[in-house]
Amino acid sequence: MRPEELRSHRWYGGEELRNFSHRTRSRQLGLNPEEHLGKPVIGILNTWGEINPCHMHLRERAEQVKRGVWQAGGYPVEFPVATLSETFQKPTPMLYRNLLSMETEEILRSYPLDGAVLMGGCDKTTPALLMGAASADLPVIFVPAGPMLRGHWRGEPLGSGTDMWKYWDDRRAGLIGDAELAELECGLARSPGHCMTMGTASTMTSVAEALGLTLPGAASIPAVDSAHHRMAAASGARIVKMVWAELTISRVLDGRAFADAITAVLALGGSTNALIHLIAMAGRSRIPLSLDDFDAAARQVPVLANIRPGGAYLMEDFYYAGGLRGLLSRLTDLLHTDRITVSGQTFGETLATARVHDDDVIRTRDNPVAAEGGIAVLRGNLAPGGAVIKHLAAEPKLLWHTGPAVVFEDYGDLRHRINDPALSITGDSVLVLRGSGPLGGPGMPEYGMLPIPDHLLAKGVRDLVRISDARMSGTSFGACVLHVAPESHVGGPLALVRDGDLITLDVPGRALRLEVDGAELDRRRAGWRPPAPRFERGYGALYTEHVTQADAGCDFDFLARAGTNPEPDAR
Ligand code: FES
Repeated sequence: MRPEELRSHRWYGGEELRNFSHRTRSRQLGLNPEEHLGKPVIGILNTWGEINPCHMHLRERAEQVKRGVWQAGGYPVEFPVATLSETFQKPTPMLYRNLLSMETEEILRSYPLDGAVLMGGCDKTTPALLMGAASADLPVIFVPAGPMLRGHWRGEPLGSGTDMWKYWDDRRAGLIGDAELAELECGLARSPGHCMTMGTASTMTSVAEALGLTLPGAASIPAVDSAHHRMAAASGARIVKMVWAELTISRVLDGRAFADAITAVLALGGSTNALIHLIAMAGRSRIPLSLDDFDAAARQVPVLANIRPGGAYLMEDFYYAGGLRGLLSRLTDLLHTDRITVSGQTFGETLATARVHDDDVIRTRDNPVAAEGGIAVLRGNLAPGGAVIKHLAAEPKLLWHTGPAVVFEDYGDLRHRINDPALSITGDSVLVLRGSGPLGGPGMPEYGMLPIPDHLLAKGVRDLVRISDARMSGTSFGACVLHVAPESHVGGPLALVRDGDLITLDVPGRALRLEVDGAELDRRRAGWRPPAPRFERGYGALYTEHVTQADAGCDFDFLARAGTNPEPDAR
């Protein structure tokens, strides 16, 4: 590609009035022509924000990206885009994933950019940035935020999220008191970076690497390690070369890349959220992907990463043990090694020098954490569109279980009544939460790990079968059936369950059944009335009118469909 062929040249080159205007305003920015004219203009889309502790280092890290861009002969321009903080944004950042994807796509389309560096990591930011980039189809490289350091408490390593749930249950069971809780509050998350368990953030940044959209090894580097600074600068340098090579995202993402991403998720024992995000991401790339693809792969791919919540260690240990490259180097027979990545190397070449330094953190094929991937897709009359369980993180005795339902209408009802003795919840009960799906939540909040009642916790019960149309944090655990589709809010079978109905969970048989005959379900369905609309205006109304169900990725129908979205005329 010659400089006159750069996309940005349409803005800055040429002799028309608008081109003159753009050059005038570049002077106003303090730029001399030789600093940016004829050079790849690189957008740095940064999800840094003062409210987001997982990204608090990305403001500084963008400077290292810029260093790399300048050194490689490009011109960097930083764009602050929405920060989606998993902790603070309510009802859930999932409500806003598609909004960030739209912002990403339209910034890449509407400004004089030749390529982009995407900076994110906290759960929804990674899929949002990549969905938008896939739709815009410029050269892009992803800079993962990196996991935070291990948590720490009284000599014990702590996992963010995972150990929060665990110790909160201990507190409810009366096993720890205020002093211990105050110490835990300080020790659970103690550095910049995303959650350092194999939650959604670690899963999705690993997905970005497995798709071939990061520099090799980038996803496993702790946020505060000096290697993270160097990776950021190298990514800035690399995107400039990608622009000259016209290495667009559509040349990297194909069916093989998504198959390899699924293999990575399963071998990591990754978050169930990955199923929704990968289906949505593949949809933007026009690549068919369904829940059944995950289930088929899950029967073949062993879990090798011994990381919480399904295992024992944390992301910092994983990095020292060899990281994602080390893990994938043990699975090359299951991967497509001849496809191109943003590094310019094939996927196989990026793994060629990878090593594993600790066989307990990254297990061998003959000593896996689990012989099959930790995720199963369930179907049956309770989930005709499918449901998901991370059985790796559940009590094995509950994976084949029939019990009576105890039904909660929504999250408020659950919080209000979970400890009501009148419910008579036992270890055999099946807790059902409805009103928590893409529309009912709204945004499908991570309510799926329903709390265990206090009286059962005190007896040592730590797991129950729980079923909902919600999602679950990747840091959570338990026999939690999630993503039931279609959701109760639109009249899915979950809306028809009544207290005392028997429900069968059969993970080996991949089944989820409501043991009520069809005629009775038809009677209940005839009496069901849809809830009143929640949003009458604003983004919530747009979301309500266009979001798809969990098995279709919860994208907006108008973003997922094919069709033209023309380049702007810059003259
Ligand atoms: Fe940001 Fe967990 S809260 S990754």
